[in-house]
Amino acid sequence: MKDTAILGIDIGTSSCKAIAVGRDGALLASATVGYPLSIPREGWSEQNPDDWIKGAGMAIAEVTGAIGSTDVTAIGLTGQMHGLTPLDRDLGVIRPAILWNDQRTEAECQQITEAAGGLEGLLGMTGNPMLPGYTGGKIVWMRNHEPRNFERMAHALNPKDYLRLKLTGEIATEVSDASGTGLFDVANRRWSSPLLEKTGIDAALLPRCTESQEISGTVSKLGAELFGVAAETPVVGGGGDAVIQTIGSGIVSANMLQTTIGTAGIVATALDGTPPNPDGRLQLFCNVAEDLWHCMGVSLNAGGAFSWLRSVLAGTGGPDGGNVDFGALVERAEAAPPGSQGLLFLPYLWGERCPWPDPSARAAFVGLTAGHGDSHLIRALLEGVVFALADMASLMTEMGLGEVARIHTSGGGSSASLWNQIQADVFGAKVATARGAAEGAAYGAALVAGLGTGVWDTPEDVAALCTIEGRWEPDAGNAAVYREMLSIYQELYIALRPAFRRLRDRSSAI
Ligand code: XUL
Repeated sequence: MKDTAILGIDIGTSSCKAIAVGRDGALLASATVGYPLSIPREGWSEQNPDDWIKGAGMAIAEVTGAIGSTDVTAIGLTGQMHGLTPLDRDLGVIRPAILWNDQRTEAECQQITEAAGGLEGLLGMTGNPMLPGYTGGKIVWMRNHEPRNFERMAHALNPKDYLRLKLTGEIATEVSDASGTGLFDVANRRWSSPLLEKTGIDAALLPRCTESQEISGTVSKLGAELFGVAAETPVVGGGGDAVIQTIGSGIVSANMLQTTIGTAGIVATALDGTPPNPDGRLQLFCNVAEDLWHCMGVSLNAGGAFSWLRSVLAGTGGPDGGNVDFGALVERAEAAPPGSQGLLFLPYLWGERCPWPDPSARAAFVGLTAGHGDSHLIRALLEGVVFALADMASLMTEMGLGEVARIHTSGGGSSASLWNQIQADVFGAKVATARGAAEGAAYGAALVAGLGTGVWDTPEDVAALCTIEGRWEPDAGNAAVYREMLSIYQELYIALRPAFRRLRDRSSAI
């Protein structure tokens, strides 16, 4: 019998990552292939779906090459959530995919909310507000702005589900990504027929929806040729990246918090039901087991903000350029004291989603003096990203989800020890990285694929595989500095909001 090797594949925003995981949860191989992001206009964010497929093909080939076999036990898919990949009747891509951090749909979200009878009506149908990142608003945007493209659209798929189509020939999604369309009845784990009716969105546009652990299909002959894995390999539903990485960090219960510093910043916890979501400020989604849900706050500005500063310091000026070494910059930040000598960074470079859903929000350094240098700017940015996480976590505390005793952190940012220490000091809680943290959502996808194909039995079994690798303890002195800085940070958005609105109006008038 062949050894167990489960593939996890993540269609991320900047790259595709493929990994192979063994029966004991150990990482057998990992490969990452990058692709471009296009910003055709301020606030827009698009990608060419074929780049995902090429990236996945190359990353899978590298991993199967490294493990010496194309015969894998199962495949789990994950990816950036909410993106719209519009396909015509012949399954051709109609236009570039519109991504999760695209901010063009404010008016359409309003239109959907009104059609649903206001926010309360919408929350009653889906458990979530229609946020500008979500897929539902993008579908209506196409109807409003690109009627010819809209007429041709026969299928609306999220990014990982486009890869599923290429691998298996199946048009399917699963409950966590479906939740992130804003058109899904999260409490009852099915498409919201009342909302589809009220908004006039044809249910036929939406894919068949499975549970995350369900086998949604097997690799087709064509998929085998395209990706170099054996035909008939089972492909499970998988999950959206922000959801699936919580199980990949060993979080399956509500008294633990997961933070992620990827392009986006996420605080999340697992739930055994769907509590009320007052004002819809948090995201309440289906999780990867039938009796599990997921509550999270997502900031659009985390690792992406760091990449921006990196590119600015490197003189490339773009949001994803810059070849200044990540580690060297973090080391530079260590030269500044906690609190960055009174300098604060508000990270809203791409507008914001939580706790302030506001596409017109802007980033700012506040408190700059001539005494500040590059180390203060870098440290203030690292701290500002963590303040944004803490700001979202305080909403969870307001929802009665309890005090946070321990945080598991993951994503690219978790490889910076200083960033993890800042988290421990800002939250005043122990921070740990679990095995697979650096592999992020791909690791969760592999675990869910193993669950769905009987390699492991329960989410608790796989959580036990996520052994702790790194630990950071809060420092009482630093925590006191950060308490004060966080309280100033939390006043800034409200104070600056009128200026953000005027600046937005001014730039749209130019
Ligand atoms: C989740 C979200 C991001 C994207 C990109 O709601 O918007 O986590 O999935 O990774």
